[in-house]
Amino acid sequence: MKKNSQHSSAKRMWGGRFTADTDTLVEAFGASVDVDKRMALEDIEGSIAHATMLKKQQILSEEECRLICQGLETIRDDILADQFVWNTALEDVHMNIEHELTQRIGPVGGKLHTARSRNDQVATDLRLWLRKAGLRIADELHTIRCELVNLAESHLGVIMPGYTHLQVAQPVLFSHHLMAYDAMFRRDAERLTQTLERLNESPLGAGALAGTGFEIDRIVAADQLGFNDVMMNSMDAVSDRDFVLDFLSFSSIVMIHLSRLSEEFILWSSQEFRFITLPDSHTTGSSIMPQKKNPDMCELIRGKAGRVCGSLMAMMMTMKGLPLTYNKDMQEDKEGVFDAVDTVEWSLKIYSSMLPHIEVHADRMRQAAGAAFSNATDLADYLATKGVPFREAHEIVGHLVRICLSENKTLESLPLEKMQEVCTLIASDVQEYLRLDAVVSARSSVGGTSPEEVERQIKKARKQLCP
Ligand code: ARG
Repeated sequence: MKKNSQHSSAKRMWGGRFTADTDTLVEAFGASVDVDKRMALEDIEGSIAHATMLKKQQILSEEECRLICQGLETIRDDILADQFVWNTALEDVHMNIEHELTQRIGPVGGKLHTARSRNDQVATDLRLWLRKAGLRIADELHTIRCELVNLAESHLGVIMPGYTHLQVAQPVLFSHHLMAYDAMFRRDAERLTQTLERLNESPLGAGALAGTGFEIDRIVAADQLGFNDVMMNSMDAVSDRDFVLDFLSFSSIVMIHLSRLSEEFILWSSQEFRFITLPDSHTTGSSIMPQKKNPDMCELIRGKAGRVCGSLMAMMMTMKGLPLTYNKDMQEDKEGVFDAVDTVEWSLKIYSSMLPHIEVHADRMRQAAGAAFSNATDLADYLATKGVPFREAHEIVGHLVRICLSENKTLESLPLEKMQEVCTLIASDVQEYLRLDAVVSARSSVGGTSPEEVERQIKKARKQLCP
């Protein structure tokens, strides 16, 4: 690793009014560079935009701006080549880079911080960083949706039990179940778009909190950085972290969706359910039990969802009592949101690579869907169409279920005469009514589980995904 021009025992950049040294424990505790160096490229991008604006406003000369920008570019090259040495004594990413700039180009490097504070700088960097991360996650959401839709489309005829209270309720199409998750991820993508739209305003130029007396042009810097606008209130610009809360809230909801899907896959791949087999590539064995195949990835994603939600809670608690404007507490904003980005991105990737290789056991699902009187509602509906008030029909079918239970029969295998003993309106056409496929096809209301409706959902999603 190449050494920076000078890197140990750096002079504190705010040391002027101090006579004694900082305690070493304090220095280490206050430093954030180990975390915030992930924003180094955004810090440089922001600095170049700031310097360019200062030149345009004739606050920096052409030559000063050129030296500063070139210096920053050499630092960027070293960072990209993993040759930059970070120094905790310099506290954070901003002061590491600025200090090194001055080492490289001399005192003119000190002019970069004219009309700027680390307070507007850090808010700018984090917004730029999250914007990039958000666009990557948007791509991942698109991919997982495509994989869900593929899986739904290729298993369109498969019937499985639908549950409420994890008790068999009514049969549904497996594709219908998958498309429910597609709908959740579509809303997640919308939430992300809105989050990115809202955070895309520039805090740069807000200064420490009150703006600056220099004749800066905030719009020029904002344009260069691709922001849609400048933040209108300088105090809000440096003290707001609701864009971090937005991002963590979006991340928590995606993770909750992935966690629920994971929970289902864990159940479905168990010996008791046997609805699906997860691919070898995404499962692990046991060091003691040779027969085992564990759904570790699903479990880990379910587990990590807790951590992401925890980061949202942590940041809400950090922010809730802070007076305006900047407080050092806010330095705590990055660790949680960086971790959330990594977790969401990684989890989505794991799912997208696993989904195409899931083995679906249609026979087993069908068998489970036909058990446990999942067509009881349909028998009640049948009676209702014959004029019996639904509440009464419900009662009659409940009675029939009780008879079936004591005689170890299903509704469709109970002899017609037995049914007619309970209700004379039941005729031989009831058999057709109770067939699994008929039960599913009958639910053709908008958004229902009939093959036509599910196919419509799939087509609609396809159109959104590949316009
Ligand atoms: N490292 C700091 C943070 O992440 C940068 C801003 C420091 N500002 C200050 N006034 N001490 O919050």
